[in-house]
Amino acid sequence: MRDTPSQTQPATPDAATQISGALLAWYDRHARIMPWRVSPAARQQGQTPDPYRIWLSEVMLQQTTVAAVKSYFLRFTQRWPNVGDLAAAQDGDVMAEWAGLGYYARARNLLRCARAVVQNHGGVFPADHAALLRLPGVGPYTAAAVGAIAFDIPATVVDGNVERVMARLFDVQTPLPRAKPELTAHAARLTPQLRPGDYAQAVMDLGATICTPRKPACGICPLMDACQARHAGSAETLPRKLAKTTKPTRFGTVFIARRSDGAWLLERRPGHGLLGGMLGWPGDAWATDSTPYATTAAPPAPVVANWQSLNTQVRHTFTHFHLVLSVQVAHVSPEATPKIGYFLPATEFRAKDLPTVMRKAHALAATILQP
Ligand code: ADE
Repeated sequence: MRDTPSQTQPATPDAATQISGALLAWYDRHARIMPWRVSPAARQQGQTPDPYRIWLSEVMLQQTTVAAVKSYFLRFTQRWPNVGDLAAAQDGDVMAEWAGLGYYARARNLLRCARAVVQNHGGVFPADHAALLRLPGVGPYTAAAVGAIAFDIPATVVDGNVERVMARLFDVQTPLPRAKPELTAHAARLTPQLRPGDYAQAVMDLGATICTPRKPACGICPLMDACQARHAGSAETLPRKLAKTTKPTRFGTVFIARRSDGAWLLERRPGHGLLGGMLGWPGDAWATDSTPYATTAAPPAPVVANWQSLNTQVRHTFTHFHLVLSVQVAHVSPEATPKIGYFLPATEFRAKDLPTVMRKAHALAATILQP
């Protein structure tokens, strides 16, 4: 393997046409079926995708797999069939439907964007790349994906799949994230004027099914002739990445109180930051030190009670750190007045409305806290 990253040769216009043509021909036969997708055959017969469904799916698909997204997408579109319905939804209902998908800032931005589409665009997504980019929470990836897939604007869509395909096609040895501009330039050259929406989906499907991170199926790849990494024998080593730093571990405590009538003591977390806007168990700030209460003896409980510490801790991994949560549980009387949060009646409580880490804590506590 070469040591010195070098600027690789971009595709000539003829080569670019050949590559995009081969990819589109492959997509015509192998496009994955997705609930928001218009198949290439239906598209060629004039069916157009619903921009709302494309936008919703693309927001959900950021950092999340197609398999994990499908059921969420179906529930969202059943409950809120169009952008006006979503814009009119209660924030808490949307956060609850999003629970478990992670990256909760996406759900908050989803609502802001839906409301902006209704207020500023009459409830119709703008068929314009610059206008899409101005919508709240819509960054370069989402604007390009919605522009290309929903409106057939020849925008260049670059996600992790596309980066991997480009790194291999052009044998880019520069490590990520430094390689991003180079990979984006390669992707831009390949984006065709004709069928850019199908093309964008084709590259992503190729990355997800054939040009996979490990053990790519080069033997059945429609781009095998053009692929420089395949010729160089470097496909499996690409894209190169700078060595990852190990994730730190943070520690915290949650307090799970249950009233004798079955109600649970919950709090709505502040509307910003990790898990922002989601329901959760009251607790402390997560520290990088496992003994933050060594001097104060105990973390602040949300209500006076006879707290009991569970032996088992909750472990959960976020993008940038591992979390270890101690769980304190207590039965409280009907008169208990919480300093933090509020009691949610058992009939209104659904563990699935909680973010995954809080759901894990509930699963541990529920065995002990029977009403
Ligand atoms: N990943 C993210 N968006 C996608 C799409 N539209 N098609 C295939 N994979 C995707």
